[in-house]
Amino acid sequence: MILSPVTVSERGDMELRSCCFLVLLCIQLKMADCGVFPELDQSLSVPQGWFPAEHFAYNDPVVLTFALKQQNVKKLEALVRRVSEPDSPEYGRFLSLEELRTLVQPSPDTLMTVRTWLENHGILSCDTIVTGDFLQCQTYSRIAEKLLPGARFVRYVKGDEHVVRSSAPYSLDPDVAPHIDFVGGLHRFPNERKVLRRRKGAEDNVTAEFHLGVTPAVLRQRYNLSATDVGTHPNNSQACAQFLEQYFSPADLSEFMSLFGRSFEHRSAVDQVVGQQGGGRAGIEASLDVEYIMSTGANISTWVFSNPGRHESQEPFLDWILLLSNTSAVPWVHTISYGDDEDSLSLAFMQRINVEFMKAAARGLSILFASGDDGAGCRQVSKDKNVFRPSFPASSPYVTTVGGTSFKNPFQVTYEVTDYISGGGFSNVFPMPDYQVSAVSNYFTSSVKMPPESYYNRSGRAYPDVAALSDNYWVVMNRVPVPWVSGTSASTPVFGGILALINDQRIKRGLSPLGFLNPALYQLHRSDTDALYDVTEGCHLSCFDDKVLAQGFCAAPSWDPVTGWGTPNYPELLKSLL
Ligand SMILES: *[C@@H]1O[C@H](CO)[C@@H](O)[C@H](O)[C@H]1NC(C)=O
Ligand SMILES: *[C@@H]1O[C@H](CO)[C@@H](O)[C@H](O)[C@H]1NC(C)=O
Ligand SMILES: *[C@@H]1O[C@H](CO)[C@@H](O)[C@H](O)[C@H]1NC(C)=O
Ligand SMILES: *[C@@H]1O[C@H](CO)[C@@H](O)[C@H](O)[C@H]1NC(C)=O
Ligand SMILES: *[C@@H]1O[C@H](CO)[C@@H](O)[C@H](O)[C@H]1NC(C)=O
Ligand SMILES: *[C@@H]1O[C@H](CO)[C@@H](O)[C@H](O)[C@H]1NC(C)=O
Repeated sequence: MILSPVTVSERGDMELRSCCFLVLLCIQLKMADCGVFPELDQSLSVPQGWFPAEHFAYNDPVVLTFALKQQNVKKLEALVRRVSEPDSPEYGRFLSLEELRTLVQPSPDTLMTVRTWLENHGILSCDTIVTGDFLQCQTYSRIAEKLLPGARFVRYVKGDEHVVRSSAPYSLDPDVAPHIDFVGGLHRFPNERKVLRRRKGAEDNVTAEFHLGVTPAVLRQRYNLSATDVGTHPNNSQACAQFLEQYFSPADLSEFMSLFGRSFEHRSAVDQVVGQQGGGRAGIEASLDVEYIMSTGANISTWVFSNPGRHESQEPFLDWILLLSNTSAVPWVHTISYGDDEDSLSLAFMQRINVEFMKAAARGLSILFASGDDGAGCRQVSKDKNVFRPSFPASSPYVTTVGGTSFKNPFQVTYEVTDYISGGGFSNVFPMPDYQVSAVSNYFTSSVKMPPESYYNRSGRAYPDVAALSDNYWVVMNRVPVPWVSGTSASTPVFGGILALINDQRIKRGLSPLGFLNPALYQLHRSDTDALYDVTEGCHLSCFDDKVLAQGFCAAPSWDPVTGWGTPNYPELLKSLL
């Protein structure tokens, strides 16, 4: 584990507060029979709004998800490169899920060791997935605490939601530890996602009421989608995934399309909902994704992955990851507005999820994540030192990350500038992938307004890769159009829908779907192209140091860590990617 000294002591303090005496002793003395702690660096802090119920969960049912050690990860990485780089003779020769299993499935030794260990603890009720590299088991908290020494399950409540999580780090038997990357269902809380409601300009400025707002027609005009630029291939599909205690409302979607979909052929209903709908209430966040992916990716069959993993001890995002590897026919494009601070997640978790994105890339899936709504972000590392705060999975080198823009003139569909909330920066975990080295070094050498180097890691994976409008969307909520909805959770489905349109044209011509886009995307600019509108104005948010806003990154000609390569010009982007 590579952690800076600051991070170690910071995380150590956190554990001191929450951890029981024996585990602490083990960690400090590194006693041999103490077991291995695979996620000691995972934040144990309880997110705002959650409170521990009075007592420990003694005999509550829990679901544990074991990420089994995979084989051939290096080979997988090399394969992803070959199938995603346009110059490669193997470009577009994707693997089926079954072929992927042959490559990555755990060794018989791993399977045997883990199975025997579980059986010895009386854990027999386990499900696997097609690729064989996850095992999900039902048990009880008291058994799980014996299996994973250190774990202390606590029931937390927030309003009428409940989760069961461990308040202390867990360990693995030293004989088993080499066969497991991490165990899910102990730590990470369900992710909160809030879209922004922003009303720019003077609140009482009457002219502002005539502000355009972003609608499907505005997006289609700006990104040069004609009325006939809609999906036509019956086998094409797209998806958005959401992990909220909210559901999208089919009635709102249909109302949205009847209000805003008049100028283009579209669908007004989702074809497949995978997971549970209706567990919570209808919400803006859940409606936004689906309303907008179906506006750019118009007339394309759309799936929604909704709230998988509803058990109290499951991690919804992790369950979506498992679902992908347990379903052979899934849509080619997935957009997700989920993210956590890199520094709150364990290295083991992030690295394994990153491999899961490689698996998706090997299958030809395009996975798009929102870059976040906090600009460069900010984290206080000591009393007078702040650093930027990258977000994961936005920082994974195997996903396409989408930032945000707004119109320069909010009253006209003209050119776009940085939306100051647009997430962007440099990973502290993932090194810079080859495909972006020259784009980023060009940014370093040509950009004049740079934040101090002590705030970020120049050698990390830089994001976002692209952008789209993220300001002042109209969304239909409870049958009523609601204005001022903002955030990169809006720009991400917009870009995803456009990729799905390009897939449609490629499939029609007998070509492969785009798959993992980044290697092709960063190559586009070797030739002179208008495939993306370059965003060159504006900077994003970062830290307030001594109450003064430190400068985040600023947009610049060509690629930049605020808006990536820019926003889509559909006809040209299509031409370059065919
Ligand atoms: C994977 O899919 C199979 C077949 O549908 C199912 O039996 C199994 O429970 C699934 N695995 C998980 C972890 O849900
Ligand atoms: C209202 O907004 C418009 C457009 O931004 C601006 O030109 C005008 O000066 C504003 N008026 C007032 C009174 O703030
Ligand atoms: C895209 O739209 C802009 C503005 O409407 C226009 O200037 C440009 O020529 C269009 N580009 C293409 C390739 O259609
Ligand atoms: C919409 O998509 C279907 C296939 O899913 C296709 O048959 C139909 O022609 C498309 N509509 C238009 C206007 O292209
Ligand atoms: C769609 O997929 C099915 C199943 O893979 C295949 O049989 C069919 O020919 C495809 N349709 C078209 C129009 O390509
Ligand atoms: C910077 O990023 C690299 C990976 O690119 C990582 O190994 C290193 O630990 C990071 N440095 C800090 C201070 O986080």
